[in-house]
Amino acid sequence: MFMSKKIIIGNWKMNPSSLMQAEDLFKSIQKNIFSKIKTDIIICPPNIYLPSFAKTLAGKEKLKKIFLGAQNVSYEEKGAYTGEISVEMLKDIGVKYVIIGHSERRSPPTGGGENNSDINKKIKMVLSFNLIPILCIGEKERDKSHEYLNFIKKQIEECLKNVAKSFISKIIIAYEPIWAIGKASVREASPEEFREMSIFIRKILSDKFGAKSIKKIKIIYGGSVNSRNVSDFLKEGGADGFLVGRNSLDPKKFGEIIEVCEA
Ligand code: PGA
Repeated sequence: MFMSKKIIIGNWKMNPSSLMQAEDLFKSIQKNIFSKIKTDIIICPPNIYLPSFAKTLAGKEKLKKIFLGAQNVSYEEKGAYTGEISVEMLKDIGVKYVIIGHSERRSPPTGGGENNSDINKKIKMVLSFNLIPILCIGEKERDKSHEYLNFIKKQIEECLKNVAKSFISKIIIAYEPIWAIGKASVREASPEEFREMSIFIRKILSDKFGAKSIKKIKIIYGGSVNSRNVSDFLKEGGADGFLVGRNSLDPKKFGEIIEVCEA
């Protein structure tokens, strides 16, 4: 059976605190990647470290499994937008992926309270420059009356409003229930919960864009991913990959996650 490549994304968030530490971490991660063939690894460090990492990767055949991603981007193309970074700037230094709509960016005040309409504009801007958006969706909590399903449906419909059918298979969807993210998480999701959600997401996408257009779309899981739970998410959950937060900052733990996906 043909197995599509798995995607493992490391979201470093606002870590580490110096370029030296960032370069050390990046080097340690590379050591685990040389011989990998079944996975693509995308490292999303703070933007300020991207140029240095791009230099490290440039022209190195051995490192061709590692790609660079940004954690956010402006939905404007260029101009008077203090503090913002454009898609074209990211593309210029070799970035291929952009995380969009992470729950930490949606939450005010630190993330600026991004809403589905902002995220929709960002997705369209990223696609227009031929970069790959990683769209994060996920509910805050699961209620007994299953209202969270409507919440997810709304997120998908609004974030992907007027995205051309021809572009849809390029987008990676990261299902990250907020209750499963970070140190304060209630628990990680179960592979069954992910599988159900992934079927639900595919149904919404299929209704909107047609079954054929969404066949290749990748749906990945995020929220307390570790080397112990990835195997079940792959086998029982049918995950196409992972968005890893905390454990992407530890080369050993991140390496173990990659190993399991390769196996
Ligand atoms: P976590 O973060 O792996 O630390 O739970 C995931 C994320 O926020 O993307």
